[in-house]
Amino acid sequence: FSSILFPIPSIRKYSIMSLVEKAKKAAAYKAVDDNFPPNAKYIGIGSGSTVVYVAERIGQLPNKDSFICIPTGFQSKQLIIDNGLTLGTIEQFPDLDIAFDGADEVDPKLSLIKGGGACLFQEKLVAASAKKFIVVADYRKESNVLGKQWTQGVPIEIVPNSYVKVTKDLKQLGAKTITLRQGGKAKAGPVITDNNNFLIDADFGEIEDPADLHNKIKSLVGVVETGLFIGMASASYFGEEAGGVKLWT
Ligand code: 5RP
Repeated sequence: FSSILFPIPSIRKYSIMSLVEKAKKAAAYKAVDDNFPPNAKYIGIGSGSTVVYVAERIGQLPNKDSFICIPTGFQSKQLIIDNGLTLGTIEQFPDLDIAFDGADEVDPKLSLIKGGGACLFQEKLVAASAKKFIVVADYRKESNVLGKQWTQGVPIEIVPNSYVKVTKDLKQLGAKTITLRQGGKAKAGPVITDNNNFLIDADFGEIEDPADLHNKIKSLVGVVETGLFIGMASASYFGEEAGGVKLWT
C-alpha cells in the first residue's frame, strides 16, 4: 500500500528525513570521507543515532573486509554486524587507528559531554585507545560552554551499591540535581549499563572548568567514569541546519 503512495523508494526516504537526521548523516559521511585512513586495520565505532551513519558509510567502503571494527556497546556491535563489517573486541585489539563517536555537547576546546545513551565507559575506553578520535554531531550539540545545551546533567557511571554515597558526594561538589537514571517504558528501575553498573545524571549548570569537574567526580569512591571527555577529540563535525558541515579542530 505504501508503495502506491510513494512509488519511488528513494524519494519516500528523502521526504521523511528530518533536518536533524540530514545533518547527522552529512556530518557522519564527511567525517568518514575526510579521516578514514586508507590502510587502517582497527576502527572504533561509537554509539548513538549519528554513528548509525558512520557505520553505514564505512560499510560502503570497497575494502571493508580489510579492517576490524571495535564496538562501544551493544547497539554499536549490532551496527557493525548489520553493515557487514568485521567485529573485534578491545581486548583483542587495544591499539586503534581511529575512532568515530557522537556527543551530547561539544565546546570549542573539543571537551565533550557524552553518555546520553549510557555507553560512556566503553566509549571512553575505545576513544582512549585510538590514535585519532573524531566526533560526529548535528548543529544542536555545538556549545560555547558545556552544560548550556545538554541540561540533563553529566552522565556518571557508578558501581550500583555506591549510589547513595555518590549522590551525597555529588551534592557536596555542587550538583543542583542528581538523578539515578531509570530505564524502560515504565521507568521501572535503574538503567543497567553494558558493564552492569548504574548511571547518575548530575546537573552542575554551566561547567566553567570541565577538566577540574571531571577530576573531582572521578576521585569519588564508587565512580567508574564520567561522561566528560577532555582533551580526547581531535575534530568535531557538525551537520548544519541550513545544510553543509562545520568542522571544529
Ligand atoms: C551514548 C553517547 C552518544 O554518542 C551521544 O548520546 C550522542 O548520541 P546521538 O548521536 O544519538 O545524539 O554518548 O552514550
